[in-house]
Amino acid sequence: MNEYDLGALVKPLCLWYEKNKRSMPWRDDATPYHVWLSEIMLQQTRIEAAKAYYERFITRLPDVEALAGVPEEELLKLWEGLGYYNRARNLQKAAKILVERYEGRLPADYGLLLELPGIGSYTAGAVASIAYGVPAPAVDGNVLRVTMRWLGCDDDISKSGVRKKMERSIMNVIPQEKPGEFNQALMELGEVVCIPNGMPLCEECPIASSCLARKSGRQTELPVKPGKKERRIEQRTVLVLEWQGKIAVRKRSSRGLLANMWEFPSFDGYLSENQVCGMICGESARPVRIRQLHDGRHIFSHVEWHMKAYEITLKDSVPQHIVPDLLWIKKEELENRYAVPVAFHCFLRQL
Ligand code: ADE
Repeated sequence: MNEYDLGALVKPLCLWYEKNKRSMPWRDDATPYHVWLSEIMLQQTRIEAAKAYYERFITRLPDVEALAGVPEEELLKLWEGLGYYNRARNLQKAAKILVERYEGRLPADYGLLLELPGIGSYTAGAVASIAYGVPAPAVDGNVLRVTMRWLGCDDDISKSGVRKKMERSIMNVIPQEKPGEFNQALMELGEVVCIPNGMPLCEECPIASSCLARKSGRQTELPVKPGKKERRIEQRTVLVLEWQGKIAVRKRSSRGLLANMWEFPSFDGYLSENQVCGMICGESARPVRIRQLHDGRHIFSHVEWHMKAYEITLKDSVPQHIVPDLLWIKKEELENRYAVPVAFHCFLRQL
């Protein structure tokens, strides 16, 4: 069959959502800008954690024009802690296009939304349906988990064909008068009842009586997604260099992990205190002070950093040919002005 048959879940799910839907700032004031911003934030952060970032963001940047015009450094500072900084950069790219072409408004059209940077089928569907009441599917991991379990279906949800089939299937049954409510009902059921990692709360589920995974006891086996590749572990040495009351940062390369973000100078592998001193000060000289900090760890989607770190107070600046392009800034500036990726916060806290 070319589509999944979801017809029988619509009514009980919508009734459940009407009674149980949670209050969220972007739901209670669901302008297109608010919906768009929250959906991008929620791709990487849980709802409770996203609220504070969301409030701070819309207080400083209350509309598309403000987002389009904010200096990038300030935008990234507002995004600090959320990770995936290209999402923030894409938000701004899209905002600039909206100002140029659409008078600062998001188009009420699934296809036009899809053309904007950073907006894929999920976000386009969420904005179109929630903010504009346009019938469009918004299929995220929650939706796939709920539906595949309910269908008792073994299809591999990491395949784009399966997601597309689910999008078509949702279009077949989505209530025309409240598409946004239906999409959010599916997401919400996946977040609070049909939860990942372990047994879902089937006693609380409005569609449990017709759920095939439940019938066959396969709730924890579904949905099927082949094991993810293991993360690569990288050992790094991080230097917090201090000179004349300032700290050294540098901009990462424009490609790859944390592209263009500020960082403490870091090196591949674990370096000993002597190796670090030799590199920074030359063989015979010593820094004013060197202190090893507590190790840090940070997990990215494909890589895990295991970091050793040294706080080093210097007599002289570091020659350009040893560590190029250092920017010396005050600690307060590091905290208030420059966006430092969370990977390095464990060291900031130890200073
Ligand atoms: N997860 C992501 N977006 C959501 C929304 N609008 N409602 C509920 N859960 C969500």
